[in-house]
Amino acid sequence: MFDDIDNQIKSAKEILKKKSKDYIQNFNNIKRYIDIEIEEIKRSKDLNQSIIPEINFDSIEGNNEELIKKVKQRGCVIVRNVFNEQVINTLNKKLEEYININDYFTDQKKKSDLDKYFSDLKSGKPQIFGLYWSKTQIEIRHSEQMAKVKKWLNNLWVYENDEYKVFDPNRELSYADRVRRREPGDDTLGLSPHCDAGSVERWTDSSYQKIYKDIFSDNFINYNPFDAKYRDRVIEFESPAVAHVFRTFQGWTALTEQGPNDGTLQLIPIAKGMAYILTRALLDDVSENELCGSKLGKALSVNKEYHELLLKGLVSIPKMRPGDTIWWHPDVVHAVEDKHLGKKYSNVVYVGATPYCKKNLDYTVKQTKKFLEGRSPPDFAPEDYEINYNGRVKLENLSSLAKKQLVLEDSN
Ligand SMILES: [Fe+2]
Repeated sequence: MFDDIDNQIKSAKEILKKKSKDYIQNFNNIKRYIDIEIEEIKRSKDLNQSIIPEINFDSIEGNNEELIKKVKQRGCVIVRNVFNEQVINTLNKKLEEYININDYFTDQKKKSDLDKYFSDLKSGKPQIFGLYWSKTQIEIRHSEQMAKVKKWLNNLWVYENDEYKVFDPNRELSYADRVRRREPGDDTLGLSPHCDAGSVERWTDSSYQKIYKDIFSDNFINYNPFDAKYRDRVIEFESPAVAHVFRTFQGWTALTEQGPNDGTLQLIPIAKGMAYILTRALLDDVSENELCGSKLGKALSVNKEYHELLLKGLVSIPKMRPGDTIWWHPDVVHAVEDKHLGKKYSNVVYVGATPYCKKNLDYTVKQTKKFLEGRSPPDFAPEDYEINYNGRVKLENLSSLAKKQLVLEDSN
């Protein structure tokens, strides 16, 4: 099916180059913007200040104009104290119990070869768990607090345009994802800098070409990464590494305290950083069928060979407390520190924001079927650990909000 991928890349690059009067000069313009951003990030690093905008959960409904401006520039935000710390401590323990009473580790050993995305893990003990329907995850994912945060995040986007309404920012669906429980000393989980939501697609897909039109056609200044138009219409190449939903933000909730060097998340906090990656691939030192290391079916690659400037902006996120959340735009480059040098587990529950739109609805319907059967969601390896697990959340345990977000109950 993808035999012609080389040709697709070649022709996409030709089309994209022609959108500019001078693609080299266009890249240099974008590079100048990135240079300034990198300088700013470096300055804050030198001063030991975090450049990632932060807001307290209690304040998200207030007037936060300055902060919102920062979030739109940086493409990421920390929302602190979304959950009470004691509640999260209990949920963290419950998750551990769920793993132990159901003997996950024995199960996992048998099935580990199924998970292709993390198949190169060296350790026998997993750090990412193929669990989706534990009480801990469901309580966090479908909580009123989470709904409030997501509503706020979704509303940062331009969700309506002259052609159509892309999504309803005030109505959430849910995207079931895994958990990370990273043990002290672990050095198996490091993820090199990348973006999800498509790699090669970002150049070849016709919707992505429209999304990034301003970038390619010498109009970078007017490119708005928070304009959702066509983001719901992107078609991904089939791969276990690609999500089939449109997330306004990816994110996670901290179950334990974790800071820099605890094997935590790193970000390049530049919302428009994708422009650099996209136009870099058009330069003449990249072969006509190559995209600076991005490969079909893999996460979009950001690497030293082509993106050294951008990588200078990679920062570890500051210390997170249990109940704090971090969110990043789907175009924001992120990584996971190679080694966990801390002394305690660094645990998170992944929860992104997936507002109501056709793409997300289509996925949610398929996902809900899996939920009812206790199986792994459609985007993940079909490990199906939880079918017979004690303590798995079932339909009768769900709140009304959870049912709405899983389209098991009408939300109108
Ligand atoms: Fe990722």
